[in-house]
Amino acid sequence: MTMIQGSFPIVKISLLAEKLYDLYVRCPVIANTAKAGQFILIRVEGFPLRRPIAVCEADRNSGILRLVFGIRGDGTKKLSQIGEGDWIDLLGPLGNGFELLPGKKAVFVGGGLGVPPLLEAAKSYGSNAEAILGFQTDSQVALRDDFQNHGVNATVMTDDGSQGRKGLVTDSLEELLARRHPDILYACGPLPMLKAVASIAAREKIRCQVLMEEKMGCGVGACHVCVCRTKRPEGGTVQSRVCSDGPVFEAERVVF
Ligand SMILES: Cc1cc2nc3c(=O)[nH]c(=O)nc-3n(C[C@H](O)[C@H](O)[C@H](O)COP(=O)(O)OP(=O)(O)OC[C@H]3O[C@@H](n4cnc5c(N)ncnc54)[C@H](O)[C@@H]3O)c2cc1C
Ligand code: FES
Repeated sequence: MTMIQGSFPIVKISLLAEKLYDLYVRCPVIANTAKAGQFILIRVEGFPLRRPIAVCEADRNSGILRLVFGIRGDGTKKLSQIGEGDWIDLLGPLGNGFELLPGKKAVFVGGGLGVPPLLEAAKSYGSNAEAILGFQTDSQVALRDDFQNHGVNATVMTDDGSQGRKGLVTDSLEELLARRHPDILYACGPLPMLKAVASIAAREKIRCQVLMEEKMGCGVGACHVCVCRTKRPEGGTVQSRVCSDGPVFEAERVVF
């Protein structure tokens, strides 16, 4: 895997939803090789550790990388203050992305900040994909049109019913699975959501890949800060590094 570190110009940054920013960076060397499910480490001024943000879209024609990030703590708050024309230090693409199955049917399940990392993969399936996008409330809903514009039938679920349908993404997933049996599920979001989706996938015998988010240190496999427990094919469990063994794992391998 070739990872690039360099400084790149910001083409656009805008507010997409409440505390959610849409960042476009011109960096053909990364956009040309980045795969769905991989991530980029962003250097934020004043913070020694880079912040991992998944590839939302990578456009090989324009060389533009789209990163969508929410404000969680001080690092992402500082990142939201950069502007058009500023330069940003990126390292990537990193990690193992989603395995895509051309011509097959897929269902994408995203929760909150777990929605942006699914877009690039969903685009490759187009109308062979359905997406279930969950948010707490109306002001946080984002990217539905981006999925739809690529032919993906996207359903929005909100906890309070203020947009789309009221309920959990897993409610909508259960309904969808009663109608059709996709070849693969992809999920990204909070751990309890991933656990619930993985359990439904196991019950229905559908392959499922999850993009895991763990706090990261080095981001490149050296410090073991980012480990999660996974099952070994030969039995027993092992600590896997989300940054270099993941961030995408087969759901059946993850010990939730
Ligand atoms: C593979 C991967 C992909 C991600 N993709 C996205 C994305 O597309 N959009 C998005 O909004 N967020 C994404 N995140 C989460 C994002 O990295 C954190 O929200 C961010 O690092 C928080 O930094 P902070 O300084 O604002 O928060 P703080 O809590 O102040 O951060 C302190 C430290 O913890 C780390 N950290 C905190 N929360 C997380 C977290 N959930 N995951 C990883 N490290 C964390 C920070 O990197 C930093 O080292 C991703 C995380 C991972 C691991
Ligand atoms: S963040 Fe250092 S090994 Fe994963």
